[in-house]
Amino acid sequence: MFTLKNVQFKDVLNVEELTIEANKITCIVGESGSGKTTFLKLLNHLINYESGLIEYKSTDLKELDTVELRREVILLPQVPVIFPGTVRENLLIGLQFSKKEPPQDQQLLEEMHRMNLFKRLDDNTDTFSGGEKQRLALARVLLMDPEVLLLDEPTSALDDNTVDIVLGHVIDYIRENQKTLVMVTHSRQLAQMMGEKIITLDNGLVTGVEEVALR
Ligand SMILES: Nc1ncnc2c1ncn2[C@@H]1O[C@H](COP(=O)(O)OP(=O)(O)OP(=O)(O)O)[C@@H](O)[C@H]1O
Ligand SMILES: [Mg+2]
Repeated sequence: MFTLKNVQFKDVLNVEELTIEANKITCIVGESGSGKTTFLKLLNHLINYESGLIEYKSTDLKELDTVELRREVILLPQVPVIFPGTVRENLLIGLQFSKKEPPQDQQLLEEMHRMNLFKRLDDNTDTFSGGEKQRLALARVLLMDPEVLLLDEPTSALDDNTVDIVLGHVIDYIRENQKTLVMVTHSRQLAQMMGEKIITLDNGLVTGVEEVALR
C-alpha cells in the first residue's frame, strides 16, 4: 500500500526502505520523540519530505491530489479534535468532508456503543473527558469508512478494559472490511498483541521490522 525509499524529513526522520502492506495491521512503536507522529503525517501528506520517495498504491504521493488522498487515508491525530457542539455534529463532520451519505441516527449510536461510549446524540461535548473525546473521535473516523486508517496513540487516555473493547472493535472492523491500519503506540505490549507487522523507530531511524504470524 505504501513504499518508502530514502525518505528524509529534516533531522527528524530518515527511512531507508520500508513497506506497509494492504489489509494488514501495522504498529509503530518507539520512545517519545522518536518520530512516530512524523511518520504518520508523512503517509497522508500532512507534511512534506525533502528527499526520497513515498508511493501510495504505486503512485508517487507528491503526484496525488491531496484531498483525494485524505478521503482514502485518514489520520486520527494524537490529540483528537472535538468541535464545540453536539455528539451528532461531531460524528457527522468527517462524513461531510468525505462526501458520503450521512448515516441514520441508529448507525451513529451503534458505532458509539461499539466504542463503549454511551452518550445521547444531542449531548454537548463541552464536558467530555479526555477518554470520551478520544472514543468519539475514533467513532467519527470509523464512520468515514476509509481504506487506510492512521491512528496516533488512539487509546492513550483509556483504561485497560476500555482499550480491550475499543481496539477489539477496531481490529474486527479492519479484518471484516479488508482495511489497512497503521497504528502508533508507545506500548510494545499492545503492538505485540495486535500488530501483524511491528516497526520500531529510534531517534528518527527504523531500528526494527518484525513480522508477526496471524493469531
Ligand atoms: N515540523 C517539525 N520540524 C522540526 N522538528 C519537528 C517537527 N515535527 C516534530 N519535530 C521533532 O521531531 C521529533 C519527533 O517528533 P514526533 O512528534 O514525531 O515524535 P513521537 O515519536 O510522535 O513522540 P510522542 O511519543 O511524544 O508523541 C521531536 O523531537 C519533535 O520535536
Ligand atoms: Mg507522537
